[in-house]
Amino acid sequence: MAVTSLSSAAEEIKSRCNIVDVISPLVTIKRAGSNYKGCCPFHKEKTPSFVVSEQKQIYHCFGCGKSGDVIRFIQEYYNMSFPDAVRRLAQQYGIEIDDYAGEMGKKKEPYYEANRMAARFYFDSFTKKANPGYSYMYGRGIQPETVKKFGLGYADDGWQTLSDYMLAQGTPESLLLELGLSAKSSKNDKLYDKFRSRVMFPIFNTMGKVIGFGGRTIVGDDAKYLNSQESIVFEKKRNLYGLSLTKKEIQDEGYAILVEGYMDVIGLYQGGVHNVCAALGTALTPEQAQLLKRYTKKAVLCLDSDAAGINAAMRGCDVLRAAGLEVRVMHVDDGKDPDEYIKKHGADEFRALLEKTTQTDIDFKIGLIAQKYDLNDLSQALRFLKEVADVLRPLSPVEADLYIPKVAKMGGISEGALRREIETPSKKAPAPPPARRDSQEEEAVKAGPKPDESRVMTERMLIKLCLQRSDLWPKLQDYPEAFVTVEGDRIAAILSGLYRENSDFDLKSVRERLDESALAYLDRILDEVITGDEEEAFRGCIEKLQRRRDKLRIQEIMDILSMAEGEDDAQLNELMRELAALQRKYIK
Ligand code: GTP
Ligand code: MN
Repeated sequence: MAVTSLSSAAEEIKSRCNIVDVISPLVTIKRAGSNYKGCCPFHKEKTPSFVVSEQKQIYHCFGCGKSGDVIRFIQEYYNMSFPDAVRRLAQQYGIEIDDYAGEMGKKKEPYYEANRMAARFYFDSFTKKANPGYSYMYGRGIQPETVKKFGLGYADDGWQTLSDYMLAQGTPESLLLELGLSAKSSKNDKLYDKFRSRVMFPIFNTMGKVIGFGGRTIVGDDAKYLNSQESIVFEKKRNLYGLSLTKKEIQDEGYAILVEGYMDVIGLYQGGVHNVCAALGTALTPEQAQLLKRYTKKAVLCLDSDAAGINAAMRGCDVLRAAGLEVRVMHVDDGKDPDEYIKKHGADEFRALLEKTTQTDIDFKIGLIAQKYDLNDLSQALRFLKEVADVLRPLSPVEADLYIPKVAKMGGISEGALRREIETPSKKAPAPPPARRDSQEEEAVKAGPKPDESRVMTERMLIKLCLQRSDLWPKLQDYPEAFVTVEGDRIAAILSGLYRENSDFDLKSVRERLDESALAYLDRILDEVITGDEEEAFRGCIEKLQRRRDKLRIQEIMDILSMAEGEDDAQLNELMRELAALQRKYIK
């Protein structure tokens, strides 16, 4: 049985385990009427006043007043936090808390390690002695510092060089095959190297782990580039080349330059333009756009100036826009790609061109449509207008308005006519791009709402609010039950630590300390929008937490009262007063 949050684990524990079984090995309790009774483990006493109710699944001490459910007992008894108590009991009762990242992380570790070892081997082959790979890159103007930064390597022309090395290091054959570093010969069943006579580009994920490789031929092989096959650590559609190195600069500069190839990233980086990354030899995917969006809301597409590049730019525009990124399109006309441009003209000219780039994705599309028609020809101008109207239709009226005057002028019609055309739904109206969900979320949606959905929503909102306003954080300290998911709990622990250090949350420091799944969770939280006043939203969350707590306490007091059998009147009176006060709070 696997559950996905601490709170559902807690529910599962409570439904499965008997409080009497948990307490009796730790405290001597004896049956007394319908309850069990013993000496309280939480204070010194000679006559037993610690009562455990099997029926209500709670304990209460009529001496010191401590009470709670089975989880609370473990917390108090071992002086543990709620999450730790839940984990302890979950383990005892065979409930798996679905700590996705933890589990997957462990499974992925040997793959990362094998890739890291291979990258090191290629790097040493590239840098330690003269070799054709180095000569090739040297010829392309790559400097030693860049080689180091990107961890470039060389796969020689042997058929077993890497495979033999890795096997000798004890890497299992199956790993080498799964990672696509080696393949198996059908003739003699021996491993041979997949990458031969290539300059190797290790591909890192944003956590800095080597997830795969790209290899460029230096002997004019059929495949100019060979990429690692997909594996449990390498999903092309979810990664961007260079991002692990450049994410900080992308964040700082406020935008990312998206280029087509490995060499473009490296060329620009070496030229001093650091906020750059590339799709991995595929058309830009929605997942890659989401990944980028963790670091910036703006992208500049800077693709090759050939037809393929223009096509890729068109699709790239749509994907980025659908992800909610602001897009500009940059052209490097002289030189077929950014790498060649910067080599020929230098970084300053590239930057000047970049700064002059004001063309939005929409401008770019309008321009491409205009090229197809002779706008002096009336019927062609009409087709131009209709096609542009299709581009403008999905935009908000405010955004569409930015383009209407220019387009009307180009097509020789009035702005009003163009507006009406845009407002008329086209027959082949391109549906507005659906809001993309990543597949993780899709799975969650398929699984249906979880019982504690609203508590999870409160948790997310509180995390978001506290990140925006660290001064709210201390006020949350009285409500540790606010954190109900494994990831939320981890984020909370990190925020507590950071707050203790300097009572402020720097998003970067938070991110650095999170593992993959907590990071993904944080990013989803950051994408959520909170409308209205922050303090009011915070108060609303606290009220919810308090209401839930009060409701539980009301139930608990009623249970305790039902457990009482001629106990100390003073304490019962106190409980009844508390109960009455709580009830008054909610019955208006
Ligand atoms: P150089 O020619 O070395 O400057 O590389 P480039 O980056 O300019 O290559 P190009 O513009 O031809 O291709 C852009 C990107 O597409 C490359 O960086 C690769 O990721 C990918 N690519 C190009 N050719 C191949 C190929 O033959 N196979 C695969 N899988 N990917 C390729
Ligand atoms: Mn190139």
